[in-house]
Amino acid sequence: STILYNDRFLDRSQGKVDMEDRGYQFGDGIYEALRVYNGKMFLLDLHMKRLERSARELRLALPYATDHLAENLDKLIKENAMDYGYVYFQITRGAIARKHRFPEQPIDTVLTASVEATDKDEDLHTDGIKVSLLDDIRWLRCDIKTLNLLGNVLANQEAFERGADDAILHRDGVVTEGTTCNVFMVKDGVLITHPADHFILNGITRIFVLQLAERLGIPVDERTYTTAELLAADEVFLTSTGVRVTPVLQIDDRQVAGGKPGPITNRLLEAFNQDVE
Ligand code: PDD
Repeated sequence: STILYNDRFLDRSQGKVDMEDRGYQFGDGIYEALRVYNGKMFLLDLHMKRLERSARELRLALPYATDHLAENLDKLIKENAMDYGYVYFQITRGAIARKHRFPEQPIDTVLTASVEATDKDEDLHTDGIKVSLLDDIRWLRCDIKTLNLLGNVLANQEAFERGADDAILHRDGVVTEGTTCNVFMVKDGVLITHPADHFILNGITRIFVLQLAERLGIPVDERTYTTAELLAADEVFLTSTGVRVTPVLQIDDRQVAGGKPGPITNRLLEAFNQDVE
């Protein structure tokens, strides 16, 4: 396959990064993952805005403007003749002798991007999944989409080993998000999700689903809620670029939401699918 390396298109076998790259040594970088439907990047502008915000928060200079990046990603999709799948890209602070503080003289950041083709409807679990409820041990800037994902990786692995598809994380009993996704619950007809503060990543799918809810006239409350509320919810679902809207029907040993996808989840799912077809 073809990859993007800074401003160049290379064969995947040429995609090599320096051993002293700060992304490799410190996780000092940012990333985005977005979905391609019918050859077109979905919600591209929102992803680019979030990238710019992540860069600002880490005081990391993007190698070139996001308009040019979008053109390059478009070329990458065409080079790989991909109709459906993912685009993943990341930018690190660059390669220099290892020292925690930023380089004194500016160095070149390193941007890499690749695609992964999927079937049209791959990884959709519209019939519902099982999750595990785990401690959120991550740092306090979960709003930045950084390459530092160890808290997410460990929880995701733990969930897998417990026979679950993902984890729902909580801090001292307050539900935050999943390891790769945001969490929504429905109670008495109201859609409830953690506010977009430093405890969660403000998912692009989260933003989109909130817009769909508004369009459909579903009341929304962005507020914190406890694990006890989650377990007593009428409906629970996850959102992300990968899973879109996925109902949660079991949390550890407990069935939730009556064990089947609820009406509000289904309405949002349907509206979502109509928008991406
Ligand atoms: N993950 N929360 C976390 C911790 C995430 O890692 C993600 C996305 C989301 C949902 O964001 P979005 O709707 O923009 O995909 C929420 C991506 C897909 C990943 O790490 O591969």
